[in-house]
Amino acid sequence: MAFEHLADELDARRLASLQRQRHLFVTGSGRYLALDQEGDGQRYLNFASNDYLGLAHHPKVIAAWKAGADKYGCGSGGSFLITGYNHAHAELEEAVADFAGQQSALLFNSGFAANSAVLATLLTKEDLLIQDKLNHASLIDGGLNCAARMTRFKHNDLANLGQRLQQSGRNKLVVTEGVFSMDGDTAPIHDIASLCNQHDAWLMVDDAHAFGVTGNGRGSLAQVMPQAIRIYMATFGKALGVGGAFVAASNTVIEYLKQFGRHYIYTTSMPPAQACAVLASLSLVKEEPWRRELLEKNIMLFRQQAADAGLPLGDSSTAIQPVLLGDVAITMALAERLKERGFWVGAIRPPTVPVGGARLRITISASHEAQDIAALVTAIAEEYRVVVEQQ
Ligand SMILES: Cc1ncc(COP(=O)(O)O)c(C=O)c1O
Repeated sequence: MAFEHLADELDARRLASLQRQRHLFVTGSGRYLALDQEGDGQRYLNFASNDYLGLAHHPKVIAAWKAGADKYGCGSGGSFLITGYNHAHAELEEAVADFAGQQSALLFNSGFAANSAVLATLLTKEDLLIQDKLNHASLIDGGLNCAARMTRFKHNDLANLGQRLQQSGRNKLVVTEGVFSMDGDTAPIHDIASLCNQHDAWLMVDDAHAFGVTGNGRGSLAQVMPQAIRIYMATFGKALGVGGAFVAASNTVIEYLKQFGRHYIYTTSMPPAQACAVLASLSLVKEEPWRRELLEKNIMLFRQQAADAGLPLGDSSTAIQPVLLGDVAITMALAERLKERGFWVGAIRPPTVPVGGARLRITISASHEAQDIAALVTAIAEEYRVVVEQQ
């Protein structure tokens, strides 16, 4: 029978407790999540989404999306190079290029597309691509699918990066995340940029989880002069609470992506109303620092209380707080018991993280109240003991 491996692999994944499942939410961002009636219709405290600043439901962002739809219609009507480019896109490109201190920017429908476009378009088979081992799947797949030779350095290890930079390549591109999506730790951007400079390599930063949040909202850009980052990519689907992404770089790089980037050219452009919503969100990021201050306070509260409770925390000072459990069965059972107590947390298993790296991925938001965090820590500590005893 044809394609027999599909069912076999699905069975194997289920038997290894690695099967993924979607849940039907009425709303999947904000302080609370609500499951659809077909689920259980319950409300949960949300410690799993990436809406770090609580902007996904902000009235100004929603109003901007609605006004954009009234003005431009629902969809863009075409690809950027045919009929799908208008004032909302142009204004957003200018705003993010300015934010990133780069000459120009291009918009993409997703961060996955943006990363794929950069790597597939700019690199040739004479080039060397050097990536942090823990980079996001979009970067790793982009690297595997591009023409260049790819090598990966040990996570955040400057000595190992230095060794890899000795390898030959006509052009060398080093890629790191600003804040790592599953660990929440930050890359030493300043030191990586210096190494790149010494080796005449370019640095690309994927700031999906830092943009709008760390460094006073400037993400990794706060660590270096903008020119040290040759290619800056970030998404609008995390702290900005909307969706889509951008790449900011020199005029030449952006023009090259516009001319040759297949992920940019052959796709319907971002709905203009979405660009309007992102612009509104970006203004809030700039004008309302209190959201970041609240987030910082909540992160510190969580870390302090989790440390007091003896939870195995990762080394993260950002909104992504992993509780490192190692064992898949314990992780799944604990997430389930937390759910029964009204908390929704991410249960992360291989292959998203390395084997032995299963964890709860707790995300803290400015929307949380102090009592939410205290209640979560108590519940994790209590349920962890029960789950371990039951194993
Ligand atoms: C580090 C990182 N880069 C890129 C992406 C992809 O962005 P998007 O969700 O916009 O496709 C994500 C998450 O989804 C991410 O965590």
